[in-house]
Amino acid sequence: MCGIIGYLGTQPAAEIVLGGLKRLEHLGYDSAGLATVADGQLHVRRAVGRLDGLAEALAAEPAPGTLGIGHTRWATHGRPSQENAHPHVDAAGRIALVHNGVIENHAAIRSFLEGQGVRFRSETDTESLAQLIGFFYSQTGDLLGSVRGALREARGTFGIAVACADAADTLIAARRGSPLIIGTGRDELIVASDAAALVGRVSQVTHLEDNEVVLLGPGGLRAVTVDAKPIEKQLEPLEASLEEASLGGYAHHMQKEIFEQPDALRNAMRGRVRPGADRVTLGGLKSFERELPRFRRALLFGCGTSWHAALIGEYLLEELAGISTEVEYASELRYRNPLIQEGTVAIALSQSGETADTIAALREVQSRGAVTLGIVNGVGSTIARETDAGVYLHAGPEIGVASTKAFTAQIAVLAMIALDLGRRRHLSPERTAELIDELAAIPEKVTKALELDGQAKRLAQRLVDRQNWLYLGRGVNFPTALEGALKLKEVSYVHAEGLPAAEMKHGPLAMIDAGMPVIVIAPQDRTYEKVLANIREVKSREGRVIAVASEGDERIAELADEVLFVPRTSPLLAPLVATIPLQLLSYHAALARGHDVDKPRNLAKSVTE
Ligand code: AGP
Repeated sequence: MCGIIGYLGTQPAAEIVLGGLKRLEHLGYDSAGLATVADGQLHVRRAVGRLDGLAEALAAEPAPGTLGIGHTRWATHGRPSQENAHPHVDAAGRIALVHNGVIENHAAIRSFLEGQGVRFRSETDTESLAQLIGFFYSQTGDLLGSVRGALREARGTFGIAVACADAADTLIAARRGSPLIIGTGRDELIVASDAAALVGRVSQVTHLEDNEVVLLGPGGLRAVTVDAKPIEKQLEPLEASLEEASLGGYAHHMQKEIFEQPDALRNAMRGRVRPGADRVTLGGLKSFERELPRFRRALLFGCGTSWHAALIGEYLLEELAGISTEVEYASELRYRNPLIQEGTVAIALSQSGETADTIAALREVQSRGAVTLGIVNGVGSTIARETDAGVYLHAGPEIGVASTKAFTAQIAVLAMIALDLGRRRHLSPERTAELIDELAAIPEKVTKALELDGQAKRLAQRLVDRQNWLYLGRGVNFPTALEGALKLKEVSYVHAEGLPAAEMKHGPLAMIDAGMPVIVIAPQDRTYEKVLANIREVKSREGRVIAVASEGDERIAELADEVLFVPRTSPLLAPLVATIPLQLLSYHAALARGHDVDKPRNLAKSVTE
């Protein structure tokens, strides 16, 4: 996903657009650009690379005006270059457009326009839309009509903001499949692809729905459908605060978000989990009160870290709720033939709530009659709005590309859902109360686990030259191992693999050589003795074992080369604490290699196309 912002107000637009783009840079960071409108002209500045390049271009040649649009790009169509950077401008130089999404029929539009004598300048799909709007506008002089006309022709997905050289007081935005939020402040209107760009400037927002077009102008906000039917938009308060979106003394968002986990978990459980109670309270499922006991099968899906959380959910739901559970990559589910029987609840997991594959999978299972729930962090996001019911994470904005606090909050929410469903079936009040108490104690235990920061840093520095790592776990900690490996890969670019420990002897053991780091998650649960045997296997091949183990476990201290001790908890909740040293290790491994942990190469925070 790329970051989009549009500003219309009384302040210098370039400054505000650049400030907003800085908050969106985690969404795309290979090139950036902006356009303002003043003196009947578009003022366009674009630069390859991080936003500093754009800031320099603006310092050298300021862009005047109080209306502007901007974009920070994560290249999909066309390499990162100045020509391919947004905004794209039509041939007559009157229309500027920034775009998130993919225009699938761009080749057909381009060939039609080239046939009309229009000259293209970039390799992007986006330019076809800018040129098509410009083509209609040159014939009619009707800006809104031209945007609607072009969008009716476009196939694919878009979140766009459009500026016109002839209208210094009018900004147009539209959405199909790519998120856009409009914020209203004092004397200003801002459109952005993510609430992060609006925080601190506006207090009220409205989310655009698919096929809606809004015209922001002197009269405020006017919304219509692509087919010109008027729509009433409701404003709601913007929940995120400036403090949440800033670094607050930490060096990186990833570090901040790792350390925010005790609070994020408290927020995820606030009002839902009470020590001493024998039931959890999930307001988001209230409307489902009658259906809840009838669920016989759960289908969980998501991507990346959210998929790992879903795998942990499988253990929780089967063990606590006694519900047969399957987990799917959303990207695979959407192209399969999923069988949805009566009594199936499909649960979409997503930090952003905007991941394209997860949205597509959600729509697929809905079209087959599944009842759907969302476990989502992004308030008002597409998945939150399109699921039948759901439970928000309330983890606060997650900006670091590597997901950390959303992962542990997802596990906590899954545990609460499993307890809720379990209690409505066979789970005794005593067992439920015991697990509720354990859950309530997790934030404190996570705080304790965060004390491993120094040890994780020293370890990461010692292992800086190792290019292959293995992560092993069993049972509910197999997904923890997968997540540990993903965290390392994405921020330190080191090859890492997560495996169920017992699978080692079926092939991967051949990879172990002298000094290879093997991270073993080994709490004292029912798989403990087996995991000790796996450690011996690795040691006898001279692998270097780093164990994540329960405090006070002396046996493991004798076997492993190094132990990261975490507080004890109920075996099913162990991933909540075991994952902390793995996150810290990845963070420090990336720093030791000199990488930008918040903006790892080739990645963007949300994959919306
Ligand atoms: C996690 O560290 C990743 N950056 C990525 O795998 C992410 O979890 C995935 O893209 C899904 O995102 P979502 O939770 O916002 O849907």
